Amino acid sequence: MIFTVAIDGPAAAGKGTISRAVAEAFGFAHLDTGALYRAVGVKGGDPVLAAQSLMPEDLARDDLRTLGAGQAASRVAVIPEVRAALLDFQRRFARREGGAVLDGRDIGTVICPEAEVKLFVTASPEVRAGRRWLELGAEAGARSLAEVLAEVRERDDRDMNRADAPLRPAAEAVMLDTSDLAVTAAIDRAVAVVRARLDLLRG
Ligand code: DC
Repeated sequence: MIFTVAIDGPAAAGKGTISRAVAEAFGFAHLDTGALYRAVGVKGGDPVLAAQSLMPEDLARDDLRTLGAGQAASRVAVIPEVRAALLDFQRRFARREGGAVLDGRDIGTVICPEAEVKLFVTASPEVRAGRRWLELGAEAGARSLAEVLAEVRERDDRDMNRADAPLRPAAEAVMLDTSDLAVTAAIDRAVAVVRARLDLLRG
């Protein structure tokens, strides 16, 4: 069975947690596409060459989740040749046999417009910055919540306003605002959307 769940949304909205839970609930493979851009961003050198020669070990680095890696990823992600180099891998992953969940910024709009389910996960910038600040722990300890909020806003602005594949909900995306939702409630809603679509397709 080919079945793609596209989960897009801004930084720290809860996409990763929801994607992993949906993948586990249905036995689908999961790809965190932000990790590809993070790996290119932290590799250094020419980002286009880095994207063209990305290796599995680049994705296993333990510094991919830092604030700096997020900013570096957002910067290299505006380069069309970087996005082009990462396109085929993501498309093939999306349409692999057995079902796939991909989370990112442009999955429902560019990578897999034919996805069977498209979710757009959001939360207010303040809520997202608060979550990121808690999640970062020691690293964030050196920064105030206000600084993390400024970084979240800067990244939103760059991701939404770039020319190539900007962050925006696909026309038919189901919106999921997690600002006032507990993690379990957000997961339940996403799982319910996927289950309804699967049931419909299976008749
Ligand atoms: O989801 P994340 O925070 O790991 O993503 C890091 C950056 O990578 C994000 O700010 C923009 C870029 N990105 C992208 O342009 N397209 C994607 N599909 C995923 C991430």
